[in-house]
Amino acid sequence: MTTDNLPQGATAGTIILSFGHPDPSTLLTPEWQAAVQSMMHGPQAGLALQYGAEQGVSRLLDFLVEKLNREENLAVRAANVMIVAGSTHAVDMLARLYARPGGVLMVEAPTYADSLHVFRDQQIELCGIPMDEDGLIPAALAETIERLHARGTFPSVLYTVPTFHNPSGRTLTEERRRHILELAQRHGFWIVEDDVYRDLAFDEAAPASFYALAGGKQVLRIGSFSKTLAPGLRLGWLIGNEEEIQNCVNCGATQMSGGANPFVAHIVAEYCQSGAWEAHIQRLRGIYRARRDTALAALARHMPPDVTWTHPRGGFFLWLSLPEYAHSQDVKRQALEQGVAISAGEGFFVEPADGSHNLRLAYSCASPEELETGARIVGQIIRAMR
Ligand SMILES: Cc1ncc(COP(=O)(O)O)c(C=O)c1O
Repeated sequence: MTTDNLPQGATAGTIILSFGHPDPSTLLTPEWQAAVQSMMHGPQAGLALQYGAEQGVSRLLDFLVEKLNREENLAVRAANVMIVAGSTHAVDMLARLYARPGGVLMVEAPTYADSLHVFRDQQIELCGIPMDEDGLIPAALAETIERLHARGTFPSVLYTVPTFHNPSGRTLTEERRRHILELAQRHGFWIVEDDVYRDLAFDEAAPASFYALAGGKQVLRIGSFSKTLAPGLRLGWLIGNEEEIQNCVNCGATQMSGGANPFVAHIVAEYCQSGAWEAHIQRLRGIYRARRDTALAALARHMPPDVTWTHPRGGFFLWLSLPEYAHSQDVKRQALEQGVAISAGEGFFVEPADGSHNLRLAYSCASPEELETGARIVGQIIRAMR
């Protein structure tokens, strides 16, 4: 990692357990370099530098349609998919189009910190819904909706990361997904399903998505090349019913800029069509599964008995719950002083105080040795607070 993308307060030697980034050694592969060369010397090279079609580069849309239908038994057509400039672009656009300033948007507590930032930028009122080991709690969601209705507020969106959740690593059960869909259909809110970790399932496949279970009704699902190819590409996709995809294609920013990153999208299409992406995903699953196992073993060795943590079945993160005597900001500060960057829980909550006894540990871009040392140092810091 170069010094221009280190977490605040870190130095070149700091062990980074705070970034949900892919392992840097997985990024620059021969297959990717071959796809860049092939596109640059192929017939598409000039066209790719022009403004692109608003919905996205059609060969990439076609590839995604085929993959989604084959792997998840969906009936998606190209009209159901839009290429976006990373998941973040879609989160921002959907918040603007479906929640709107002054509206109310529901999120998991905790949720992905940068999405909270996007929603706050848009002055959207946020409402956090508690989770447990099985993900968002449907009864708590139902209660919140009733409470909001009682004060004359009708939430328009639930933003959720149901699969290999950031920050907790938890996965929402299929039964709960069905229950939440019933609530969405009964109360007329949209589910924005941020599904960027789906392909990184370590053991059994991830549960069916909200989009799949709903047959596309009232669900907008976001995918990304950031976690399984490279975040610097700034490329992802959005799946929804035809009308909603058209709504996004016709929004002002898309009309103004054309489709997302056409040059990059042409290279990614070339790469995907060669079969390289799916082979790469298989490799990544093995790499991150081993990292998860190392992190879990290191925590078991080094944490005091009153610290607990999640056991993710995919993705990049695990989530620690600390005893009352250990405050996450203190642990974070002391860990950084000792050369370990870790995320404190507060930033992941609508009400920051709710995370004052939590830490997020990202195992995705740390070596096994760094995970071992990081867990040892954080464990010592917590023990010394008793
Ligand atoms: C849940 C979630 N959504 C979106 C993103 C960002 O994705 P992208 O790089 O595609 O914008 C991340 C990255 O950490 C994430 O964890």
